[in-house]
Amino acid sequence: MSALDRLGRHVLFSFDPEAAHGLSIKALRCGLPVGGRAPHDTRLQVRVAGLDFPNPLGMAAGYDKNAEVPDALLGLGFGFAEVGTVTPLAQSGNPKPRIFRLVEDDAVINRLGFNNEGHDAAERRLAARAGRPGIVGVNVGANKDSTDRVADYAIGVKRFARHASYLTVNISSPNTPGLRNMQAREQLAELLAAVVAARAETGLTVPIFLKIAPDLHEAELEDIAAVVTENTLEGVIVSNTTITRPSLSSRAHTGETGGLSGKPLFARSTAVLARMRKLLGPKRAIIGVGGVDSTETALEKIRAGADLVQLYTGMIYAGPSLPARIVRGMSDFAQREGLKSIAELRDSRLDQWAATPL
Ligand code: FNR
Repeated sequence: MSALDRLGRHVLFSFDPEAAHGLSIKALRCGLPVGGRAPHDTRLQVRVAGLDFPNPLGMAAGYDKNAEVPDALLGLGFGFAEVGTVTPLAQSGNPKPRIFRLVEDDAVINRLGFNNEGHDAAERRLAARAGRPGIVGVNVGANKDSTDRVADYAIGVKRFARHASYLTVNISSPNTPGLRNMQAREQLAELLAAVVAARAETGLTVPIFLKIAPDLHEAELEDIAAVVTENTLEGVIVSNTTITRPSLSSRAHTGETGGLSGKPLFARSTAVLARMRKLLGPKRAIIGVGGVDSTETALEKIRAGADLVQLYTGMIYAGPSLPARIVRGMSDFAQREGLKSIAELRDSRLDQWAATPL
């Protein structure tokens, strides 16, 4: 961690987590030079779902919920940035406090509940950056009070297809009651048929990914893989936060309701990722997310079957120079190991991870 990151963390951790998040967005919006420099290394370039990523590390959804700073995030060294979750109408989410730091575990529990400014605001910002380079995905969700959640996703797809490099259908937040039930086979089949039809209506071919929870059993994963394949979705993002509580060292906040992210999520989300790779086969895209906080953890997601990797909580603890440091580390690794492409690493520990108990 750089001295600047340490100072930044000291300042931000003196605020409550949500205020700190707001300040970090402001810092990025103002163009403060807070990050490091990531190398351009052709060995890190990956082609996934028809898109050319400059490197395989992305910012996960939930940091830039309202599409305020995607270009600043790319400037930190990320190879792509995912904005959202955006819902059709603005909504305020759950009562505060609703984000909790579990400092001894490098983890966070959140129960934000899709607080966001709605489609209009996000679309306005994305339209204003039209034509700029960089891969920016848009993660869409449903309003808590919606009477037709499937329609909310279809509207999201139609609205953002022309602004997004890819779209993510997020049905795995634990903080919108009933949302994760959409992962069940019949509901999922209806949802994915609707989003694929919505995309067809736009006449655009933007890739669509499905973001799943890490708390699914084998049979549920099999159903999801089958429905994803039937609907020819481009890929799956594994995973969102967990409602389980693996053994934690922190004394404060471990009993809070919500989704747990960060280091304690790494093993479970990686085990689910490997199972999903086995079920989907080698062609479909998988983005691995959950507990990535170093070059080694990012590479391990790829070894377990990921084409691309994302992080969020790692940056809360290690600061904004983390993405550039991870990418530099990947570049050094490729050099050291004599790799032509980082993608050569994929699946090299697939069997071990797929055999890890959930
Ligand atoms: C999230 N995450 C998330 N995911 C999503 O699809 N839509 C969202 O709006 C949010 N919001 C959100 C808020 C906060 C405060 C956190 C910590 C996380 C989940 C996130 O994208 C990621 O899947 C998990 O956090 C696991 O990755 P990390 O954080 O362990 O790297």
